[in-house]
Amino acid sequence: MIQAKAQKIYYENTIKNITRVDCGRCHSGPTRNLMDYDNLKAYADSGLLTTMVQGPMRCFARNDAQTILRWVREGAPEKPPGAPARFTDKPGSISTVPGGPGCRQGSPPLNVAKGQVTYNNTIKSVLAKDCLRCHSGPFRNLTNYKNVKMYVDTGLLKTLVRIGEPMHRFAGADSRQIIMWINNGAPQ
Ligand code: HEC
Ligand code: HEC
Repeated sequence: MIQAKAQKIYYENTIKNITRVDCGRCHSGPTRNLMDYDNLKAYADSGLLTTMVQGPMRCFARNDAQTILRWVREGAPEKPPGAPARFTDKPGSISTVPGGPGCRQGSPPLNVAKGQVTYNNTIKSVLAKDCLRCHSGPFRNLTNYKNVKMYVDTGLLKTLVRIGEPMHRFAGADSRQIIMWINNGAPQ
């Protein structure tokens, strides 16, 4: 009984830290803010937190996805009843490794020989898998060769998918395919 209690997940002892590490870089601003209990609880209660963590946000939650989902299922409590907030996380208990179950980063290279990579045989599907969930709208559209080629020609695509650059985390190991394709003249 005591053990079951100790294992219960609370915002204060676990989820607060997870959301800061996994989600804070995109969810600290004026919209879609997840950085305090009340905001997060509202998303939990609406069902949207579960939907997003099982779907498009899963890549960011990585190994923490199950912890978040369990916390929501258990009613998304803030802290143990009557107990002061206390951090019980072991150091390193939160994954900082990119990738993981459900994450679409770092997928194995497609089956096309180096130097023969074209937009149609490889890059189109790489972008569909890694990028189009955010790049299908009217702005920054990467859904067709013409648009993608424009970003190739300005140099922005190559710059942004390099290691350490903002779009690299979405491309993961596929960034090598993209860069190789650009270096070969980005053939259609
Ligand atoms: C790299 C940026 C980024 C990271 C990291 C990120 N998100 Fe998101 N999140 C977004 C964007 C962009 C949207 C809006 C998506 C859309 O409208 O289609 C979004 C939407 C959401 C929404 C829906 C918000 C709304 O009002 O519609 C939830 C809930 C959410 N994310 C949860 C999370 C959680 C939980 C994490 C951490 C495990 C996380 N996100 C990490 C970028 C991110
Ligand atoms: C979770 C959403 C998301 C994903 C996935 C994503 N991007 Fe982005 N991307 C953005 C946002 C937001 C910006 C704008 C950043 C800014 O303006 O600071 C952006 C900007 C860019 C730009 C610059 C566009 C411009 O006109 O300035 C390029 C190029 C780009 N991304 C390429 C990619 C590639 C390639 C992938 C896949 C490997 C990818 N992105 C995946 C959200 C995303």
